[in-house]
Amino acid sequence: MAERREMNRILVTGAVGQIGSELTVALRHRYGAENVVATGHRTKPTGELCEGGPFEYIDVAQRQTLEAVVDKYGIDTIYHMAAILSAVGEERPLLAWNVNINGLHNVLEVARERGLARVFCPSSIAVFGPDTPRDDTPQETILRPTTMYGVTKVSGELLCDYYVRRFGVDVRGVRYPGIISSETLPGGGTTDYAVAIYYAAVEKGHYTCFVREDTVLPMMYMPDCVRGTIDLMEADFDQLRHHADFNMSSMSFSAGELAAEIKKHVPDFEVEYKPDARQAIADSWPCSIDDSAAREEWGWQPEYDLAAMTADMLAKLRQRAAAGRLYLGEGPTCP
Ligand SMILES: NC(=O)c1ccc[n+]([C@@H]2O[C@H](COP(=O)([O-])OP(=O)(O)OC[C@H]3O[C@@H](n4cnc5c(N)ncnc54)[C@H](O)[C@@H]3O)[C@@H](O)[C@H]2O)c1
Repeated sequence: MAERREMNRILVTGAVGQIGSELTVALRHRYGAENVVATGHRTKPTGELCEGGPFEYIDVAQRQTLEAVVDKYGIDTIYHMAAILSAVGEERPLLAWNVNINGLHNVLEVARERGLARVFCPSSIAVFGPDTPRDDTPQETILRPTTMYGVTKVSGELLCDYYVRRFGVDVRGVRYPGIISSETLPGGGTTDYAVAIYYAAVEKGHYTCFVREDTVLPMMYMPDCVRGTIDLMEADFDQLRHHADFNMSSMSFSAGELAAEIKKHVPDFEVEYKPDARQAIADSWPCSIDDSAAREEWGWQPEYDLAAMTADMLAKLRQRAAAGRLYLGEGPTCP
C-alpha cells in the first residue's frame, strides 16, 4: 500500500468562480481558514472569501505564478477549479485550450515536481458527445465531444490519469453535471439558465430561457457538489479504481419541469423559450448519468432533488432580495 501524504495546506485555483467560491469557504471551515489559500485570476473576491483567509492572484497558464504561491505557503494539495467553460470556450477556443490544457499541465507538473499529496481536477458531462448513449450514460462509453470545452475535458481526464499511472501523482476528479447555486453566478456555461431562472423568478417574475422547454440535462445542487468533492478527496486511494473521470449524478429535469417547480412557489412566474447557440451544445450532452462507480468506490450519495433544491434556492434568494443584495457581485478588477 503506497504511503500517502496528509492534506494540510490547500490551494484553490479559480476560487472566485461559481464552484471555487463555495468550495473554498467549506474547505476553510473543515481544515482551518489559514490553511486554505484562495487564488483568483483577475477579480478580487468579496465577503467571506476575501476576509476569511489568505488570497493571492495567479494565472494558471503562467506556471511561475502558480509555483510562487505553492512555495510561499508550503502547499501540499491543489483543488484546480480554474477553467474556461463551454459557452465561452466556443467563442474563444484558443483561450479554452490554453487555460484548460496548459493550465492543468502546469498544475500537474508542480504537483509532480514538489511531490504534492493530492490534486483535484474537475471534468464535466461535456466529455460526452452526440454518439454517446444519452440516457443513463455509462461510466465507460464513447467520448467524442463536439465542443472545444469537451475536447479539453477529455484530454484533461487522460492527462490526469497519465500522471497517476506514470508518476504516481494522486489526482482525482469527477464529471460534474450542471451546477446550480445561490452565491456566485455561473461563468459562461450551457447550464447557466438553470441558475438564472431562479434569480429571474425572484427579481422580475418572467424569464427568457436560452434552451428549448423539452431540453433535459443532468444537474446538481451546490451543497451536494461541495460535499461530494471533499468526500472524493478524502477517500482512501486504495479503494479507487477510477481517478479523474468519475461520473457524478444527482437529478435530471427539463427546462419546462424546472419552470413548473418554480411556479409552485411563484404562481405568476412566466417563462418563454428562445433557444440560441447553446441549444446545440445542450443537445450533444446526456440526459441522465450512471454514477454507480462513484457510489461504489467512494460512497457518493446526493441529498437534494428538484423540489428540495428549488425550495432552498428561492428561500435564500428571497432573503437576499429583501435585504437589497440579490446579486452578491465580484470585487474590483485586479490591475
Ligand atoms: N459550474 C458548472 O456547472 C460546471 C459543470 C461541469 C464542470 N465544471 C468544472 O468545474 C470547474 C469550476 O467551474 P466553475 O463553474 O466554478 O467555473 P467559473 O467560470 O465560475 O470559474 C472559473 C474561474 O477560473 C478563473 N480563471 C480563468 N482563467 C484563468 C487563468 N488563466 N488562471 C487562473 N484562473 C483563471 C476565472 O476567473 C473564474 O473565476 C471547471 O473546471 C469547470 O469546467 C463546472
